[in-house]
Amino acid sequence: MNSPHVVRHKSLVEREDREKLHGHKGAVLWFTGLSASGKSTLSHMVEKRLYVMGASTYVFDGDNVRHGLCGDLGFSEKDRVENIRRIGEMVRLFVDAGIIALTAFISPFRADRQNVKTRMGDDRFVEIFVDCPLETCIARDPKGIYARALRGEIKDFTGISSPYEPPENADIVIRSDRESFDEAVSKILEFLKQKNLIFQE
Ligand code: ADX
Repeated sequence: MNSPHVVRHKSLVEREDREKLHGHKGAVLWFTGLSASGKSTLSHMVEKRLYVMGASTYVFDGDNVRHGLCGDLGFSEKDRVENIRRIGEMVRLFVDAGIIALTAFISPFRADRQNVKTRMGDDRFVEIFVDCPLETCIARDPKGIYARALRGEIKDFTGISSPYEPPENADIVIRSDRESFDEAVSKILEFLKQKNLIFQE
């Protein structure tokens, strides 16, 4: 989507300059998975570790996005596509600002995640699949929302009445029903170091 008659102003400070200031690259850690798979918990734990290392970070999740920027959107296929498109564009600006953004949205459709990745650039987009069997998510059900979906009170519910398309080539896969959160966090940080997105501790 391009706006006609809008001309970009050239920035006098480039992303590389901002990255030097932050001491690390700008990137997004894109967590995807079913509701109750552990995306939010993990993203906040990773953020805490990065913060302690002195990194500039921000977690985007349903709490701060679905009530605000995307407050007009529901859970139809069309609205979910728009939800992820908007989040992707917003996060792209944060990455340009040199921040490590962490996103915790179901983001159920492969094509939408791929679009964000393409817009962002492969080396700045880290896809983290929080893989957890549906039965375990249903058993966890911290918000009681699966119970309501199973009773038919919520329509288009991911995993119940709306599809989830798992990544085919995620950068990192976390089996959140088998691995501890601490192990998962270490695995993610190790990946970021290997890719030179963050510097060694
Ligand atoms: S996404 O599909 O558009 O990426 P998002 O991550 O923003 O979803 O929101 C998911 C959260 O909204 C779930 O964790 C759940 O608490 C709540 N929710 C409410 N209705 C639905 C629904 N129909 N499907 C999935 N999650 C829902």
